Amino acid sequence: MVLVNGMAAQVTTQRLRQSEVFRPTDMEHESQQPSPEYGRRRQQSIFVRGLGHMVSRVPIDFSALEERARRVMTKRGFAYAAGAAGSERTMDANREAFDRWRIVPRMLCDVSRRDLSLTLFGERLPTPLILAPIGVLEMAHAQADLAAARAAAAERVPFVFSNQASVPMEKCAAAMGNGIRWFQLYWSTDNQLVISFLRRAEACGCRALVVTLDTPLLGWRPRDLDLGFLPFLRGMGIAQYTSDPVFCEGLAQLRIEPTTDPVKPRNNLFHFGARWQQIRRYPGSLLSNLVSRAPLAAVPKFLNIYSRASLTWKDLAWLREQTHLPILLKGILSAEDARLAVEHGVAGIIVSNHGGRQVDGAIAAIDALPGVVKVANGRLPVLFDSGIRSGSDMFKALALGASAICLGRPYVYGLAIAGEHGVREVIQNVLADFDLTMALAGCATLADVASAALERVV
Ligand code: GLV
Repeated sequence: MVLVNGMAAQVTTQRLRQSEVFRPTDMEHESQQPSPEYGRRRQQSIFVRGLGHMVSRVPIDFSALEERARRVMTKRGFAYAAGAAGSERTMDANREAFDRWRIVPRMLCDVSRRDLSLTLFGERLPTPLILAPIGVLEMAHAQADLAAARAAAAERVPFVFSNQASVPMEKCAAAMGNGIRWFQLYWSTDNQLVISFLRRAEACGCRALVVTLDTPLLGWRPRDLDLGFLPFLRGMGIAQYTSDPVFCEGLAQLRIEPTTDPVKPRNNLFHFGARWQQIRRYPGSLLSNLVSRAPLAAVPKFLNIYSRASLTWKDLAWLREQTHLPILLKGILSAEDARLAVEHGVAGIIVSNHGGRQVDGAIAAIDALPGVVKVANGRLPVLFDSGIRSGSDMFKALALGASAICLGRPYVYGLAIAGEHGVREVIQNVLADFDLTMALAGCATLADVASAALERVV
């Protein structure tokens, strides 16, 4: 027997029938009126539903969440989302490093009311949680970025539009109302395209620009390599490009040069299928896409220009001239790069190793955080990404000096399992866990969390 908010609920371990599993629509009324009581509200709604033998399809534990997502996603889609670089040691290290930090709870601190809010880039946010930019969400769910955008807006969590989105930013912005959105930039070799992306992001009401620095090339990812699968080659995850006037200019007239690469795809049914997918995914009617060259020209053009490996710190001055948006640099792991970021006047830093997807054997993101925070020294906010699975992880990253937290894979799995409502449930669960962890550790505000004690165990 457990007591939830004064109400007794019998906890049973009986197996629940499928019909008793509550549908996402049952969640509809939740968080319409976001309350600071994230923890107790969520517990109460879960346990009360449990009285009627209704449990969510979206597991709370990360391993169970990932496993359920694996069952509903295609093999290729799951490999892309769950995979990481090389032996995946860095992805694992992100988790192991969190485990080495332990919270030291304090007692008798009056935690009857918690305030999770903060001000970031002049904006008041109810919580320090942000949905990270994740590409190719169509592999998780047909509604892809649109579902994630709606969920973020409903839960009052900022959403970072991915440069490699499956849905153009304008559509997502239109679905978000006043919901806070930022835009992630992969800095293309085509400056006019970069400027066009910036203008569009500004017109969409994006309030910050997240320049992702750690992907000048794609990491060596065995799961994708073993399946011979790169989504972009099938026209997936390039919606920001195929909806862009600069990118599309002259595309239909573009001559697709015969490849000089000695490796050519076999002309078989599978290859035909991949080309068919490119045509089908391209915006516009199927008929016009069948007669136009644009759908097939878009993929090679994208591959040619998507990222600029020649970037240096000097290029940031040019970017700053092109936009009034605050610029955050994502992918910073070294104290020296943090120093350069401060020196170059950026608005913020995101400590991240891209979820372990780029450099196998790279430092765990949470291990890099204290060094970066020390250099930043309060002059600019340091956000944290890579390895967050729970509210307790959020607490640790904030206690180590992060100003806000980006959530990645967990929301992708929620999306895969139950679309928009799945993302909402994941957000609610993480925030409930965070709120309760705060209370139980003796913290009533984020300032208390920032000064909370963590102990490092070996
Ligand atoms: C791209 O950003 C990726 O991690 O696949």
